Amino acid sequence: MPALHIGHIPLANRLFVAPMAGVTDRPFRQLCKALGAGYAVSEMVTSRKDLWNSLKTSRRANHEGEPGPIAVQIAGTEAAMMAEAAVYNIERGAEIIDINMGCPAKKVCNKWAGSALMQNEALAVEIAAAVVEAARPYNVPVTLKMRTGWCSEHRNAVVLARQFEGVGIQMLTVHGRTREQGYKGFAEYDTIAAVKQAVSVPVVANGDIDSPEKARDVLARTGADAVMVGRAAQGRPWIFREMAHFLETGEHMAPPLVAELRRLLLEHLQDHYSLYGEGTGVRSARKHIAWYVRSLPGGEQFRQHINTIEDCAVQWQAVADYLDALGQQMDRLPMATVATAGGATDAELDEPAGMTA
Ligand SMILES: Cc1cc2nc3c(=O)[nH]c(=O)nc-3n(C[C@H](O)[C@H](O)[C@H](O)COP(=O)(O)O)c2cc1C
Repeated sequence: MPALHIGHIPLANRLFVAPMAGVTDRPFRQLCKALGAGYAVSEMVTSRKDLWNSLKTSRRANHEGEPGPIAVQIAGTEAAMMAEAAVYNIERGAEIIDINMGCPAKKVCNKWAGSALMQNEALAVEIAAAVVEAARPYNVPVTLKMRTGWCSEHRNAVVLARQFEGVGIQMLTVHGRTREQGYKGFAEYDTIAAVKQAVSVPVVANGDIDSPEKARDVLARTGADAVMVGRAAQGRPWIFREMAHFLETGEHMAPPLVAELRRLLLEHLQDHYSLYGEGTGVRSARKHIAWYVRSLPGGEQFRQHINTIEDCAVQWQAVADYLDALGQQMDRLPMATVATAGGATDAELDEPAGMTA
């Protein structure tokens, strides 16, 4: 199969990690890419200029040592501000700009944004066109992520997809839920298939893809050019190589060795602490550790213990000790049973600074 391209940029494969605010930071994206993800979009960066110098935004804009292409997602409600945000990020290394119209948060920058924009088709298209025009002199392709529509009676992804393609959007990702659904219910793939039929730019299918079989089935059902995995990659970044292996051979890979998990997780933590620093790092690492151990023996008890530790070195050592002990009991992790767990509640997604999706 020929390589998939975003505009002129070739991608390593058709398995993408989804942008997840607070999760897919540079250390986690790098890990997913090293373990088989062909493409990763960074967490959303606001289009609000007054927040660009904030620590949170500068961490989100950190791409040090990350293998390309570097893709930055922007969110906002005004075309001119979004165009400016695109240029700001391009001048700081973004090779692809992704527009967020998929986030269910009620408000971004105190206005309806993210997937709420799908209700205002004229504004949504105006934003897409302005960002494409701003990125054009830099030869930077612009992509867009959306949902199937505003609500079940108003699934306008196909209508919008045609218009987005018309103004120069070079790839469309569709999460198979409506804005109204938040993260509830199940993703549906028929609308994604209809979007694929309607446009000639690459289409990426997203939503509830949590196993190699599901990746195969969604690709077949939608005809999409790629699949994007979010929650199922939390604490399981090797899911991408498992999917790649299954799609290639029809067979399952053996789960990772405990020794490999030990190396990956301890390196992930080091990288995490160096990005966030001691105080923030020890706390923000907890959710990652919890995801890694959630289906392991003693995992729940260990998670509770980790939440009491306030020091990076102590946290790191506790993880090392837990995995050393696990290594005495088993060589490999148990076969994954339930993959998707660490979701986002709609409340969690409504951050005051409007930075979340
Ligand atoms: C914690 C969390 C944060 C998210 N942040 C973003 C974001 O910044 N931008 C975005 O477009 N989507 C965001 N999403 C949505 C995901 O990219 C994806 O569309 C959704 O989780 C469905 O895919 P999944 O079923 O594979 O998780 C987020 C999802 C979660 C769970």
